[in-house]
Amino acid sequence: MKYHFKDLGLSNTKEMFAKANKEGYSVPAFNFNNLEQLQGIIEACVEMGSPVILQVSTGARSYIGKEMLPWLAKAATAYVEASGSDIPVALHLDHGPNFEEAKDCIEYGFSSVMIDASHHPYDENVKESKEVADFAHKHDVTVEAELGVLAGVEDDVVAEKHIYTQPDEVEDFVKKTGVDSLAIAIGTSHGAHKFKPGDKPQIRLDILKEIEQRIPGFPIVLHGSSSVPKKFVDMINKFGGQIADAIGIPDEQLREASKSAVSKINVDTDGRLAFTAGIREVLATKPGEFDPRKYVGPAKNYMKDYYKEKIVSVFGSEGAYKKGTPRK
Ligand code: G3H
Ligand code: 13P
Ligand code: ZN
Repeated sequence: MKYHFKDLGLSNTKEMFAKANKEGYSVPAFNFNNLEQLQGIIEACVEMGSPVILQVSTGARSYIGKEMLPWLAKAATAYVEASGSDIPVALHLDHGPNFEEAKDCIEYGFSSVMIDASHHPYDENVKESKEVADFAHKHDVTVEAELGVLAGVEDDVVAEKHIYTQPDEVEDFVKKTGVDSLAIAIGTSHGAHKFKPGDKPQIRLDILKEIEQRIPGFPIVLHGSSSVPKKFVDMINKFGGQIADAIGIPDEQLREASKSAVSKINVDTDGRLAFTAGIREVLATKPGEFDPRKYVGPAKNYMKDYYKEKIVSVFGSEGAYKKGTPRK
């Protein structure tokens, strides 16, 4: 073990999810790739008193660098402490592709990992998920696995259609694998194009209900849950971008899911849109600007302000912990 997550001030997701379930909210899991996105996320969550899962894909981890990443996480927990807040912070591997990557993350300070073997046959998914859970639990690290396949691109696997999670499989799956949370497919999908123009954006809350009845109180995770705010898509297009037919999940449906056993909701695309809109706006309206702080800074603030709104409109996690005072 190079670092244990506790030495970085991080928490696993066990108590986070137990409290979220009991109090009827869900924990935001926000992806990041760089310092300013991390600042936007942590500042928003500190100011709102919301727990947070800092989520990193395999691609993001190699972009940041595996040696630097633990210290960025440590920087985030130091910020929380200095602000006077007590929000728990997890560092989580998003869509872990195999045992080796999950193990390496655990050895480099992650407090939570996902093993995503959902595109494999059921028995293979059980085997891989159990292998990761057995190793992770030796180090007090929590594990998320997935059953069902989201439409669109997921881990380089392209699925034409959703393969919804089958409620009659979930109990057996969590029992056999020993994982701590379960990602399910109920009609959400990754990216900015979740529905076709003319479709009614609707996720299958009926399947979610059935799943909850099979595994009462067990933490459920929703991927692909960006709302794709029109205001950022419009800004991007106004300032030289080209994003057509972008449609996300309506906030009210996610809010409904948050009140149930859904304990973690993943959002990446919305942050990317807010960040890109901010950069495009400055570069388009101030063509002489070349100080990165002057365009990345506003981009960070768009992302931060949006996540603060989302904590109220979707997660319901405001004030679950002590709010902190912003720090310079
Ligand atoms: O679900 C995937 C996340 O949005 C991360 O995407 O692999 O482009 O970093 P990425
Ligand atoms: P979005 O693309 O909807 O933000 O989903 C992100 C996600 O599920 C990361 O795992
Ligand atoms: Zn995902």
